[in-house]
Order: sequence, then C-alpha cells, then structure tokens
Amino acid sequence: MTSNEKLNETLPEHVRRNRAHWDQIAESYVAAGERGWANNAPAWGIWRVPESELHLLPDDLNGKDVIELGCGTAYVSSWLARRGARVVGIDNSAQQLATARRLQQEHGLDFPLIHGNAESVPYPDASFDFAISEYGACLWADPGRWVPEAARLLRPGGRLHFLTNSFLHTLCAAAEDDVPADERLLRPAFGMYRVEWGTDESVEFHLSHGDWIKLLRRVGCEIEDLIELRPGPDATTRYRHVTLEWARKWPCEEAWKVRKRA
Ligand SMILES: C[S@@+](CC[C@H](N)C(=O)[O-])C[C@H]1O[C@@H](n2cnc3c(N)ncnc32)[C@H](O)[C@@H]1O
Repeated sequence: MTSNEKLNETLPEHVRRNRAHWDQIAESYVAAGERGWANNAPAWGIWRVPESELHLLPDDLNGKDVIELGCGTAYVSSWLARRGARVVGIDNSAQQLATARRLQQEHGLDFPLIHGNAESVPYPDASFDFAISEYGACLWADPGRWVPEAARLLRPGGRLHFLTNSFLHTLCAAAEDDVPADERLLRPAFGMYRVEWGTDESVEFHLSHGDWIKLLRRVGCEIEDLIELRPGPDATTRYRHVTLEWARKWPCEEAWKVRKRA
C-alpha cells in the first residue's frame, strides 16, 4: 500500500468520497479557475456578484495571515495574495490543486497549497487572521468538524467568511443536480445536515440558519452579517441547479461573516 493509499484509509468516509468526486470533476472547473485567476476584481458565487456589493475580503489584508478552506483552483487565494496577504490554501483534491499549481506558475504567484482535509489542518492554534471558503469546506466538509477547526486556527478577533448554497435553496432542490430548484419545499428543514443527492458519490452539508448560529457561537464566534445574494441585472450562470427567475425571487446563495471573540 502506498503512503497516499494509507492516508486515504484514515480519512472520514465523506472526505474520501468527496476526494474521489472532486478528482473526477476537476477538469470541469479548470476554465472557471483560469477566469478567476485572470480577473483580479473578485466576483462571487454562481452569479458572480461583485466584491463591491458583498465585501467578502477584509479591507486591510496586507501582511495578514489568511487561509482558504477548500481552495480548489485557488483563484480566491490569488485575490488574497495580490492584496498583500500571506496565503495558505488547503484542498482535498489533488487534481484541483494541480490546476491551482499550474495557475500559480502562469501568474507568477507562489503560496503554500496543502493537499488535505480542512477538518484537520496542519497548522498551530491562532495561526491566521482571516479564513475564507467559497463553496469549499463550508459545503463539503462536516460543519461539526471544520467550524471548530476554523475557530482554532483563527487569532482572537480574526474573521471567517464563507459562501454556500442558501438553506432555502436546499429545501427546494430537486434530487438530481441538473434539475433546477422547485417553487415548493421538497424536503424537511428539521434534521437537515448531511445531504446526499444520489446522483454521484459526493456528500454535502446544509444547515438551517438556527443551526449555523448555534454552532458558530459555540466555537466562540459572533455573527457579523448574513448576506443573501441576488443576481445582478446581467447575471448568467453555467450551473443548472437553479434558474435566474428563481434566484431573482429567493436567495439561492448566502454569505456568512463571523468574527472570533477577542
Ligand atoms: C467548488 S470548489 C471551491 C473552490 C472555488 N471557490 C470554486 O467555487 O470553484 C470545492 C472544493 O472543495 C474541496 N473540498 C471538499 N471537501 C473538502 C475538505 N474536507 N477539505 C478541503 N477541501 C475540500 C474540493 O476538493 C473542491 O476543490
């Protein structure tokens, strides 16, 4: 057995499954990664909502220690690095990181990229001023593990920002990934946590707002904002799990901004 195979064996089941899933679909994220790296004006989520509206990046990143949890092709990390931050990206997929490494070379930006699970990050307590996740660990890692880990990694007063599917969208989401969300609630809210769609081997995690607040406060964070994203006038997306018409009426994505108590 190779050392990689041994490591794989010790990973939690959902992390192993998501690793296989992301290695398999990494190719379909290359173009988006290239666009993200080429454009230093951040735009977020599936509708590319501009940073000027969301303000997901803190103002003064210069010299700050920051980590992207589930960085994928690491375009968010590239935005952070260009703003003077000392960035670390961690991702569960070797294939996603291969794209990230190629783009680092092409753009002449170098920062550590770790192949690992954001639920268990090989850095000491209080290593970072800021942690961010855009549809990364915040969607694919177990909140009961990655949220306490993010809080451990942050310095007192440090911030965690994450963007993921809205809880409302998940309640209305069809079982098949390619079918857009319905206008009816299709699954119960109570008890929502680990979600498997049944169309592939991946495992996601979706929490109600009440459950997010309870968990974030339990690990010593205060909620500063919860932004429900709206597509702009010219918005388009390549994703098929929601239509523009739906997203103009209801939030399909949400961004949480929290701060670790000082
Ligand atoms: C949609 S990408 C996020 C990157 C980028 N912001 C984007 O939207 O394309 C999701 C990433 O989360 C990573 N991921 C899933 N589970 C993870 C975990 N437990 N730890 C670290 N990364 C994880 C996947 O490998 C994948 O690269």
